[in-house]
Amino acid sequence: MRPTPILLFDDVSIAHAVSLIAQGEPVAVPTETVYGLAGDATSGTAIAAIYAAKGRPSFNPLIVHVTDVAAAERLAVFDDVARALAAALWPGPLTLVLPRREGSPVASLATAGLATIAIRVPAHPAMQALLKACGVPLAAPSANASGTISPTRAAHVAVSLGGRIPLIIDGGACVVGLESTIVAVDETGLRLLRPGVVTAEVLTAATGLPITTATGGAIESPGQMLSHYAPAKSLRLNALDAQPGEYLIGFGIVMGQSSLSPSADLVEAAAALFDQLHCADASPQARIAVAPIPPHGLGLAIIDRLTRAAHA
Ligand code: TXA
Ligand code: MG
Repeated sequence: MRPTPILLFDDVSIAHAVSLIAQGEPVAVPTETVYGLAGDATSGTAIAAIYAAKGRPSFNPLIVHVTDVAAAERLAVFDDVARALAAALWPGPLTLVLPRREGSPVASLATAGLATIAIRVPAHPAMQALLKACGVPLAAPSANASGTISPTRAAHVAVSLGGRIPLIIDGGACVVGLESTIVAVDETGLRLLRPGVVTAEVLTAATGLPITTATGGAIESPGQMLSHYAPAKSLRLNALDAQPGEYLIGFGIVMGQSSLSPSADLVEAAAALFDQLHCADASPQARIAVAPIPPHGLGLAIIDRLTRAAHA
């Protein structure tokens, strides 16, 4: 890919971004927290392209951005507490982790197969304009290569992802400069999953409820406290054929009951991964086997997820 163009935020750059996103390409766009790498949240292959651009060695669930509370309620189930938080603090640097709404169009790769969804209404005019113009929810992790710090200026994105993405929209420096606060809302109350500028005191003021941390003690780093989706059945890796009682998920020349990608395309395979794991889990077979996946590019993230599932 050629050096990535950086265009100032205006109608023209947004229109260009919309056409790229419609083609499944990720675009860097400012939010009030950090620059995000945005892709169509309803397309598994668009989400796979985000992971490929970031070079992320594992699939963490992503934050899904929407224009307003009404759009959020189409994707997630809100209770009164979640509604109070949304009313008080959206648009803004707060992400809510809520039960995923049944029939939601969001791709399973975006939520990493979980029954919950992380959702946010951003305040930045560029991200808002992009959301409105695209007409779909946008998944957006921070727009930096895996393992590097989050970008708060277009130039930071260019250093980290230049040549790997087709467009950076420049909206100046991010006013918050720190990733959004993440809070999970469920029957047990409010759990702070990632601290940010929306503090526990602010969350309590909006809801009247105390805030606990993921473990009830000190706040853990985001990667550690995540409960990852894993199938209930045992899982065997590098399977060339199905043994009795196994549901085989194929890849390339290894054909199974289903295939992540008959043409051995890793983007297609990543997009299909969680759907096929859920299918295998719901099948009559007692165990799951998965064909060998090549250990490069997105294959590393697929293997990472399968290895965790095998040892769950
Ligand atoms: O400020 C932000 O939130 C930025 C901007 C671009 O909006 N985005 C961002 O995304 O920081 P990312 O992908 O770097 O962080 C997403 C984090 C994951 O690491 C995970 O901890 C949490 O969100 N997450 C996503 N879905 C979750 C879920 N269903 N349950 C628990 N945590 C979840
Ligand atoms: Mg990040």
